[in-house]
Amino acid sequence: MATPSYKETAQRMKMIQEQQKIVVQKMNRIKYKIGVLSSKGGVGKSFVTATLAMGLALRGKKVAILDADFHGPSIPKMMGLPTGMGLLAKPDGSIVPAEGPLGIKVISVGLMLPSDETPLIWRGPLKTSAIRELLAFTDWEDTEFLLIDLPPGTGDEQLTIAQLIPKLTGFLLVTIPSEVSKLVVKKAAAFAKKLNEPLLGIIENMTYFECPDGTKHYIFGKGAAKEIADEFGIPYLGEVPIDPRIRETNDRGEVFFLKYGDSKTASILSEITERLIKIIESKS
Ligand SMILES: Nc1ncnc2c1ncn2[C@@H]1O[C@H](COP(=O)(O)OP(=O)(O)OP(=O)(O)O)[C@@H](O)[C@H]1O
Ligand SMILES: [Mg+2]
Repeated sequence: MATPSYKETAQRMKMIQEQQKIVVQKMNRIKYKIGVLSSKGGVGKSFVTATLAMGLALRGKKVAILDADFHGPSIPKMMGLPTGMGLLAKPDGSIVPAEGPLGIKVISVGLMLPSDETPLIWRGPLKTSAIRELLAFTDWEDTEFLLIDLPPGTGDEQLTIAQLIPKLTGFLLVTIPSEVSKLVVKKAAAFAKKLNEPLLGIIENMTYFECPDGTKHYIFGKGAAKEIADEFGIPYLGEVPIDPRIRETNDRGEVFFLKYGDSKTASILSEITERLIKIIESKS
């Protein structure tokens, strides 16, 4: 590949600065911007993002989700949207988000990939540009709450979100109770602290499995989220049981809350969401 000329580099820098300005303008119009973070993979970040979106939408709030997990986008499925449905563009070039349940807007690369098996083979700079362009060129309309589902780690995507979005309301942490997860999620907490970004709290997911006779089995251990909450001085938001219906609904592209809204797990999730919304709204 030929090395870009000085002029080309200067033009590109100018274009990036212009896009950053648009991001600032658009983000300033959205009251709450929340990143769902956990350095650890597979702990339930996407499910928590989808749950929070549903909780907010059920309270009549205007919600959008940016799925910033380019390599493993899970939000479309969890919102019941088909892979490959594509995203529309308006005549002015702005991107129209897909519409999930209760009018939740969804922007995800998963909507643009032809199949669930198609990998996205991108290095960091491409992902950084994609986040900037999606934030800048999406028509967020009257969104009040923008939730950003992040991949595992504290790298390109997390840093880009922290650096590009002015006045981020904060990061929400998710862990499972295992020691391995606890150690990794502490890195996410330390990442947010280092960048001076607020931590809204921590949710412990998959804390126990409750048998039909009421006995609880703490399969992954106990107390990880409380320990992180105490160490970093952040709110502990509660524990979510392992519920096979969560896995089943997510796998089928159904929304847990819509199908099992009257279950015990749904009421636990509602309480956690209620606590979290109070914290988020207190940051305005
Ligand atoms: N409390 C729960 N009970 C049962 N299954 C759950 C629960 N929470 C999440 N799951 C399931 O666990 C898997 C991982 O959840 P999810 O995709 O939300 O994690 P993640 O942290 O976003 O993963 P990744 O790091 O890959 O983005 C999914 O199949 C999901 O349906
Ligand atoms: Mg995920």
